[in-house]
Amino acid sequence: MSRVIFHNSTGAPQAPAPKGGVLDTHGRPMRDLRISVTDRCNFRCTYCMPREVFGADHAFLPHSALLTFEEISRVAQIAAGLGVHKIRLTGGEPLMRKQLEVLVGMLAALRTPEGEPLEIALTTNGALLARKAKALAEAGLQRVTVSLDALDDVLFQRMSDGGVTVATILEGIEAAARAGLAPVKVNMVVRKGMNDAQILPMARHFRGSGHILRFIEYMDVGNTNGWRMDEVVTGAEIVGIIGAEFPLEPVGAGYRGEVAARWAYRDGGGEIGLITSVSQPFCGDCTRMRLSPEGRLFTCLFAEQGHDLRGLLRAGASDAALAERLGGVWRARGDRYSEHRGEAQREHKIEMSYIGG
Ligand code: GTP
Ligand code: 5AD
Ligand code: SF4
Ligand code: SF4
Repeated sequence: MSRVIFHNSTGAPQAPAPKGGVLDTHGRPMRDLRISVTDRCNFRCTYCMPREVFGADHAFLPHSALLTFEEISRVAQIAAGLGVHKIRLTGGEPLMRKQLEVLVGMLAALRTPEGEPLEIALTTNGALLARKAKALAEAGLQRVTVSLDALDDVLFQRMSDGGVTVATILEGIEAAARAGLAPVKVNMVVRKGMNDAQILPMARHFRGSGHILRFIEYMDVGNTNGWRMDEVVTGAEIVGIIGAEFPLEPVGAGYRGEVAARWAYRDGGGEIGLITSVSQPFCGDCTRMRLSPEGRLFTCLFAEQGHDLRGLLRAGASDAALAERLGGVWRARGDRYSEHRGEAQREHKIEMSYIGG
């Protein structure tokens, strides 16, 4: 299997930034804004928020530290003026933030300089989705991605440690699809020796369902999961495992810089995605800016430091000053962490539960 059929992330300069847009030091435009709305989560996935570290006495951010919906929406509008087209709400668990649909409504009212609405998506663990899907869709949410690492309930409990059943997550997925948040994407983080035996059951379950199952290579995000390379099952291995039962063929990217490499079932049973951040990094096309719950900007999932925006927001800065700050952080960006993984170990990376993947 050729390597290039997964990702063709060459690092070649991208198309020029749109009018008003900004490029980083590698010529990458800022197109996506991933907004983490809370650092809290109702799960304790072993690879993300292990209970030994995120226990009952863990100090989460106080509510007053979080950006308000008005502040988030103002940052999003300014980002839209700098080229952002897509907003993804993340967490922790974003549905733990009360009345998230109100924020969705505010974001749905924003427009790009060309007068287009922004694309608005959400990444959730699905536990609260069944009861929230309709209100979110009505507020203007377009798509949702649900994390699900196993169909086997015992294994799912062991990995997510949240006291929630697989059936509840599956109900959330169906409710989202019924509400029109489709196609629903399902993210499965694959950790060797833990849930790799669930690759085929998951593929069988979601084949033909209209939902898109995506396999994520286990990553060395954060500082608490004790990541080891030998726990990674590569995208190529996963394609081999599934392809042996259901023949697959590669499909071109849906858009430039798409994180997942797409493969379709040859018999028309839909498609799967592979997120190969470890075996085939895609930094060359990375157009994602991240905003933390308390208003710090991160230019990479593996960054050690953020750039405070909340101070400016709360000091009464003008839109022009905020745009200058946001644009300046992007222009100075040189991150390509996944392409240099292993060369230099970073010691204080941000936690996935803080910045939301
Ligand atoms: P769509 O293509 O719009 O569905 O979005 P997406 O694939 O960007 O969204 P999602 O939140 O589902 O991303 C899937 C996962 O890929 C994330 O949770 C991360 O684990 C990983 N990921 C997303 N963006 C990056 C990135 O910039 N770098 C790395 N290394 N991993 C990323
Ligand atoms: N490696 C890969 N994916 C991860 N996620 C959380 N931690 C990791 C990790 N170490 C996934 C979640 C969710 C998304 C936000 O990121 O399972 O699908
Ligand atoms: Fe699990 Fe996501 Fe919560 Fe982390 S933020 S513990 S990956 S559900
Ligand atoms: Fe982007 Fe950093 Fe991920 Fe590379 S490692 S794709 S630069 S977020």
